[in-house]
Amino acid sequence: MSRDLKRTGAGRRAVAPSDLLPDLAAPLLAWYARHQRHLPWRGARDPYAIWVSEIMLQQTQVETVRPYYARWLAAFPTLAALAAAPPAAVLAVWEGLGYYSRARNLHRAAQQVAAEHGGALPRTVAGLRALPGIGRYTAGAIASMAFGVDAAVLDGNVKRVLARVFDLTVDVKSPAGEKQLWALAERLLPPGRAGDYNQALMDLGATLCLPRAPLCLLCPLRELCAAFANGTQHLRPVLPARRAQPERRQAAGVIRKGGRVLLAQRPADGLLGGLWAFPAVDVPAEASADEQAAALSELLRKEYGLTVTLGETPGPVLRHTFTHFRLVLHVYEGRWRAGRLAAGQAARRWVKVSELGDCAMGKTDRRVAQGLTGE
Ligand code: ADE
Repeated sequence: MSRDLKRTGAGRRAVAPSDLLPDLAAPLLAWYARHQRHLPWRGARDPYAIWVSEIMLQQTQVETVRPYYARWLAAFPTLAALAAAPPAAVLAVWEGLGYYSRARNLHRAAQQVAAEHGGALPRTVAGLRALPGIGRYTAGAIASMAFGVDAAVLDGNVKRVLARVFDLTVDVKSPAGEKQLWALAERLLPPGRAGDYNQALMDLGATLCLPRAPLCLLCPLRELCAAFANGTQHLRPVLPARRAQPERRQAAGVIRKGGRVLLAQRPADGLLGGLWAFPAVDVPAEASADEQAAALSELLRKEYGLTVTLGETPGPVLRHTFTHFRLVLHVYEGRWRAGRLAAGQAARRWVKVSELGDCAMGKTDRRVAQGLTGE
């Protein structure tokens, strides 16, 4: 190990500048053979199934993905079945998994592969990256696992492992950090074994090389790990300072008309695109309940052509954290008084309370819907 890593003047080890890199692959692959996690997509031969798993695993934990993965493959067992499915069915199966653009991109990509590639997923990193929703990481994962290509991956887990093994002081999310880590990931790949090696790195990051309390004594890379030698595991990876999340406040209406409530479909390409929601309007943080209710009435009158009366007492307040902001949703009950949804308003509907389950929704709207009774 000391042959592979240089000692700096202060006695700390730093990354070798040349091709003198330690061999991570041998100990990692041996460890993986014994300790890999048994995951439903491991051993899948079908590139489509591997692709689906990799998209679901973007920004989502393995345990959350498991049931969704099974339901998805039951609903859309082949790429052709997915390509032929209506968008509403695709969103319904994805509902609850979050980051809905992933589902829309998966659907679009399946249609593109069906139309342009004869239904067979491209086998190269470049071919995969040309599809919607597939970036450098996911292309490397699919190419290495489904097609045996010598392609690297770099996600949060892999970054943490490499930043510790090489005791990197660079911010791993900065452009310089990304560049250095991708270069390392590529140089370290064992030819012909990239699929298992990449998954071994992911498993090591998920089970031993943990963010806060790494289990170094069980780690197959301990002997090679510069952070372990230097006692700096808890300082790696170096991450940018966290910025406070802005808060976004909205007033939403549960507007009833007979046994139905008003829903609006969100624009296809924005946040929660294509999902159904209770009509809602942004309100200032300091707005009183009366002011919130007035803003909501105004929205319904101007945008929907409806006159409503809202209940005297404000309803529940729900909170949800998105990637870039925290939502605080004030819910108001109301009744339709007058007005009709114009014929052109296809994205707005009066939906029977008993049929709300058929409309795909984000988590917060689903919580509101689940609290409703028929009348
Ligand atoms: N995260 C992303 N892809 C993964 C995989 N194939 N196995 C485990 N964790 C992952």
